[in-house]
Amino acid sequence: MAEQAASIEALLEEGRTFPPSPEFAQQANINDPNVYEEAERDFEGFWSRFADELSWFRKWDTVLEWDPPHAKWFVGAKTNVSYNCVDRHLATRRNKAAIVWEGEPGDWKVYTYWDLYREVCQFANVMKGLGVTKGDRVTIYLPMVPELPIAMLACARIGAAHSVIFGGFSPDSIRDRIEDSQSKLLITADGGFRRGNIVPLKRNCDEAIAGDTTIEQVVVVRRTGHADELMQGGRDQWWHDLMQGASQKCEPEPMDAEDMLYMLYTSGTTGKPKGIVHTTAGYMVGTYATAKWIFDLKEDDVYWCTADIGWVTGHSYIVYGPLSNGATTVMYEGSPDFPDRDRWWSIIEKYGCTICYTAPTAIRTCMRWGEEYPERHDLSSLRLLGSVGEPINPEAWVWYRKNIGGDRVPVVDTWWQTETGMILIAPLPGITTLKPGSATRPFPGVLADVVDEAGNSVGLGAGGYLVIKRPWPAMLRTIYGDPERFVEQYWSRYPNIYFTADGSKRDADGDFWLLGRVDDVINVSGHRISTMEVESALVDHPTVAESASIGKNHEIKGQAVVSFVTLKEGIDGTDDLLNELKRHVATKIGSMARPDDIFFTAELPKTRSGKIMRRLLRDVAEGRALGDTTTLADPGVVEALKEQYGDEE
Ligand code: WT7
Repeated sequence: MAEQAASIEALLEEGRTFPPSPEFAQQANINDPNVYEEAERDFEGFWSRFADELSWFRKWDTVLEWDPPHAKWFVGAKTNVSYNCVDRHLATRRNKAAIVWEGEPGDWKVYTYWDLYREVCQFANVMKGLGVTKGDRVTIYLPMVPELPIAMLACARIGAAHSVIFGGFSPDSIRDRIEDSQSKLLITADGGFRRGNIVPLKRNCDEAIAGDTTIEQVVVVRRTGHADELMQGGRDQWWHDLMQGASQKCEPEPMDAEDMLYMLYTSGTTGKPKGIVHTTAGYMVGTYATAKWIFDLKEDDVYWCTADIGWVTGHSYIVYGPLSNGATTVMYEGSPDFPDRDRWWSIIEKYGCTICYTAPTAIRTCMRWGEEYPERHDLSSLRLLGSVGEPINPEAWVWYRKNIGGDRVPVVDTWWQTETGMILIAPLPGITTLKPGSATRPFPGVLADVVDEAGNSVGLGAGGYLVIKRPWPAMLRTIYGDPERFVEQYWSRYPNIYFTADGSKRDADGDFWLLGRVDDVINVSGHRISTMEVESALVDHPTVAESASIGKNHEIKGQAVVSFVTLKEGIDGTDDLLNELKRHVATKIGSMARPDDIFFTAELPKTRSGKIMRRLLRDVAEGRALGDTTTLADPGVVEALKEQYGDEE
């Protein structure tokens, strides 16, 4: 954290700022700076004005009931999120493109709102026919194909909560998540295309649900056509067969404001992922409002978020936020470098994308590939760029604005989490003066602060823990099946204040500069991985006695996983074993968790009470001088490690 703070310091001295251009400000959805004060004076009224723009079967009696740490938003209201994302637009946008989809092999398809309506209704009826009812959980493990948002919206329509699992997760991870959510239905595909290869999704599912499982039925989308022989009679059915006879009308279920909309697993500081629960009305209002104001969505925008829907970014800002706004949302199935490194820019040119929302790790990768790739394409349709997932280094911010945004468009850095459901800290592009590397300020109505250990505001110019001091509509309501962990993780450090586990600094203007996680969570290319998950995957291997994992700074990925492993008596730390262990982690969790480096060590550095000192392991991995070693039980351990590996960098 100290180093990042130092580089930010250096940048601040440089002082580059980008106020909104008069042309952008003039046309922006919000350009009145008083909006911040107005929202402060009456934040409930502020959120309810967005809610008034949406459709309700019954309006709320109370905007917010706050019984810390439990919030209820729009209490007493009845609505349906699928109705708001689809049906609501049929009167005025029936033939407007809702989803523009491009597959990796180059196939593409446009769904108008009317098309989307029919497909969502049909699939909702399919699920009803399979016995799915309100309150059930449905697990979805699909590639980036249109059936994914269709299935999510169909769940929302009938009141079943979806649990989407990112296609990169392994059979073990799928199994844990299915078991935790007790889903009866699993929706998957035979495979997905990724960098010219086929991701064997159906095979992974078969492995995940072999033996005892709550899954009774599996719906399979045919995408790659390579796995027909894997269909199991009595359990598996093709999506297209089921859709054939299904009715194109399905009344949306009137849902209570606080009914669960979905759950989404994310990593915490233990080995067990948390099923973050989001509910109906607040989530809808929060994602609607932030998409409208931060991305400045307009009727003729072509909005593209490059994330995978398997992560919260895709839930909130490919599906729910844009569609509740009646926007055109672009979806791309594959990899940015297939068939060549200009694939993304070709997509922007082809569909005339006006807004692009991506991650710093992707921007840094493109920087490394070089300007020649974006230069091959006409990117002049772009009018706004966004960033999310990890702190964006100022160099990447400036490169993005210059080489993708033609040095003319605003770049909004948006801070939020799976738990927050919606963006909480970001510029309003028609108002805010941008600073490369800063997410700037909390969205109107959001009360964020930076505090010290004791919970006191550190004030301007200082650093500490980022906290949120007032409820916001899309906030998580609980951890599925584990209400104690919900309280413990987020609400126990400071009374009645949400603890983000991120470090932050505020500059003299009050702008926020995010500094990364302060807990044992690693952020690899914007994917959250817990050091504990990697450690338990490693000790699961028969040769491993003990292990400790850390995040090491990485030029492209932000952070990379590095593991230290103690082998069982008599086992040799060969290169073969090293590779085998890396593979083992990828098989247990998913390839994004594969350690970049594994170091074998006779012992791990521990305090006298037995706590592993990860800080010292980070020093070793990053080739730094060792920090304070006085609390170590045996200082020799880390010295030996340093000697062995210290000059590898
Ligand atoms: C963690 C949340 C929110 C969607 C993607 C990640 C980091 C996220 C930023 C940003 C600095 C950021 C934080 C946060 N993070 N956005 N703009 N600047 N850090 O969701 O997997 O729940 O991870 O990502 O550390 O706590 P997630």
